[in-house]
Amino acid sequence: MTIKNNNNMNSTLSIRNNHLYIEGCDTVELAARFGTPLFVLSETHLRNNLREYKRAFQAHWPEGEVRVMPAIKANPTIAVRRILTEEGAGCDVFGPGELECALRGGVPPEMISVNGSIKDRSIIRKAISIGARIVLDSPQELEICNQVGEELNKTARVMLRLKPYLGDLEEKSDFLPQQEIRELTQTIKYGIPTSEVLPMGPRAMALPFVEPVGVHIHMGRHSKKLSVWGQLIDSYVGLIKQLSELMNGWIPQEVDFGGGFASPQDKETRVAVTDYPTPTLDQYAELITSRFRSAMQRHGMTTEGIMIEVEPGRGLHNETMLHLTQVHNIKRESINIEHQWAEVDTSEVFLGIMGVNPTPPFDYVVANKADQPDDSCFDIVGVTCNAEWLYQQVPVPELEAGDIVAMLNTGAYIEPMATNFNALPRPGMIVVCADQADLIKRHETLDDVFARHLVPERLKNS
Ligand SMILES: Cc1ncc(COP(=O)(O)O)c(C=O)c1O
Repeated sequence: MTIKNNNNMNSTLSIRNNHLYIEGCDTVELAARFGTPLFVLSETHLRNNLREYKRAFQAHWPEGEVRVMPAIKANPTIAVRRILTEEGAGCDVFGPGELECALRGGVPPEMISVNGSIKDRSIIRKAISIGARIVLDSPQELEICNQVGEELNKTARVMLRLKPYLGDLEEKSDFLPQQEIRELTQTIKYGIPTSEVLPMGPRAMALPFVEPVGVHIHMGRHSKKLSVWGQLIDSYVGLIKQLSELMNGWIPQEVDFGGGFASPQDKETRVAVTDYPTPTLDQYAELITSRFRSAMQRHGMTTEGIMIEVEPGRGLHNETMLHLTQVHNIKRESINIEHQWAEVDTSEVFLGIMGVNPTPPFDYVVANKADQPDDSCFDIVGVTCNAEWLYQQVPVPELEAGDIVAMLNTGAYIEPMATNFNALPRPGMIVVCADQADLIKRHETLDDVFARHLVPERLKNS
């Protein structure tokens, strides 16, 4: 969708003198100064979003602490993580690379939650030695935690990642609309199968170098319907109760509800169904906390002092970033068909939209013609040898070489998915705050692209 003036803009975007601004920065100047293609993050927007998560959940959870633990995978950039660290956020990490990003981003180790499948001995050793918490995904990981804990003479703080069965719920997934959420949440690989977790609970209690501190779920962005979230929480607590009975009345003191919250505008590349209203953060927070509280009470378990956690990814980041690309060439056909193309210097392979047809969900603005009428129609096509229909036959002002196109809502799971197809160096990233702009990830170079390539001696003379 094309954007004019404040229609569908977020609070850090504005149009001034025909140009698109992000915070106090003119995007056209940013494109010239830093080069395109370029990811541009609004620091103010990110900070505001984080504070909103914290405020919303805290308002509905007087019983204990609330931790926002953003999923680092949505934007694994060290400077971005530093902003979230300054805001007091913890962190969900998957694997050793994201753990490194969290540490370099200054996250206090005790606020890091090490998630992920097949955690090997080395990541478990690192987590225990720095005092990070481990979210167990299998009985095997529990045993490794105890062994490594013994070697280090340190107790491993662990959570059990549960896979509650969603009972009678017949709702389909927004990700894969042909499939039921209750089936997907069972058949997807992550989490501990219920048949394995039930004996694992008492085992965790018995092991001397393991302390089971809590439980975890992550449904993912399967649905925005509060009724689905309510069923998830009821089933979660039902499984917690089963564990509690097997664990001599154990009650988890840290309860994590994972991520999966839709972003306010919900313009998602990887979600098939987005065309119904997104609940507000207050609605999510109210529903989750009240259903959790009442289900715990129903099962005779106290919630007093329990720390709750959420791990937003797309909901936190999606709308904090835009992507700038420059028109390099215009092509026109007028003999067999009437058609015109604007060739830009970005690509679907930088935007996580390979094979997404016909047009991705990113709203767009021609940043240097932001107030001009959309009196022309173009295919905006990317730079690789693919067909690269970034936008097919979209209304835009008359385009010419040098124009800058801004693609909005590109803050979650876009930049980390970029690839080097056609041996292209990947775009850089900047952060803006008021009228200040700084590079936080430099543009890749051709030397970077070929940095891992090796030529055996016997081929060097050819
Ligand atoms: C364990 C965990 N927590 C949080 C998230 C973030 O999910 P979302 O971006 O849907 O909020 C993910 C995403 O895959 C995850 O695996």
